[in-house]
Amino acid sequence: NPDKMDFIPRPEMLDFHGVAMTHYFTCNWENVQNFQARPDDILIATYPKAGTTWVSCILDLLYFGQSSPDRQTSTPIYERVPFLEIAVPSIDSGKDLADKLSTSPRLIKTHLPVQFIPKSFWEQNCRIVYVARNAKDNIVSYFHFDRMNMIQPEPGDWSNFFQRFIDGKMVFGSWYDHVNGWWKKKQTHSNLHYMFFEDLVEDTGREINKLCCFLGLSPSAEEKRRITGEVQFESMKKNEATNYSSVAFMDFKISPFMRKGKVGDWKNHFTVAQNEKFDEDYKKKMDSTLQFRTEI
Ligand code: A3P
Repeated sequence: NPDKMDFIPRPEMLDFHGVAMTHYFTCNWENVQNFQARPDDILIATYPKAGTTWVSCILDLLYFGQSSPDRQTSTPIYERVPFLEIAVPSIDSGKDLADKLSTSPRLIKTHLPVQFIPKSFWEQNCRIVYVARNAKDNIVSYFHFDRMNMIQPEPGDWSNFFQRFIDGKMVFGSWYDHVNGWWKKKQTHSNLHYMFFEDLVEDTGREINKLCCFLGLSPSAEEKRRITGEVQFESMKKNEATNYSSVAFMDFKISPFMRKGKVGDWKNHFTVAQNEKFDEDYKKKMDSTLQFRTEI
């Protein structure tokens, strides 16, 4: 609905305790920080565009796929799995949606870097699933997302966006700080499952098995096969409850939310010079114990 989109201006970037953010994710800060988690809440944490929606759907199916199968097509994923810190005028805040969830467990999404997670999640020792995606595909996906999503700052052209990514001036901050910060947390926090987008593409069934192990679930082989089928890219792209087509501030004429779903699309965007510059910078910033695949 283009009329509705006109009311939501693209935000400016701001520095929030050393992390680049926009007011759509900081203006409800006190309420978000005071969020009361429950011990069985499950937090899905990611840097934007790392596979949040994919893993949200998998968890939703694992928990509710059998008891309420209609939910998969009747309720948009952003209502089933509220986005905790979002606060955009004229839609319910993520915090309010999360408070209103009547499911058990509650599945909650966040893009916050680890140091910003509301303390109640740690106090309640909630399970956390972190999904990470290789930097090169992550930036490409983020670029196309910022083009079509009117609640994100204007992305400018690709080379400008590329430089901003290297400088860490993206909404939710530096990709490097995000993935490294959560990786470090995993070393001391056993209730954190750290997974990779590339592994999901390579073998979704295997990754669902690992998730079940972490969550203490034991669905039948048939049920797991069904879930694996339902979360394939083409199925999620077709499903209006998972493809974000009902969101007023996203312009699908520019780019769809379910865009390609591939590993290695960066090769269609990076120039040779950009790739060299990126690799050099990457080596300086990365924790060498955290390894990504940029192709499979
Ligand atoms: P692309 O832009 O590279 O296509 P998020 O949910 O964190 O915003 O991530 C969105 C990215 O995950 C998009 O990447 C989207 O296409 C991809 N994605 C979502 N569901 C997927 C699926 N079932 N299989 C493969 N990729 C998927």
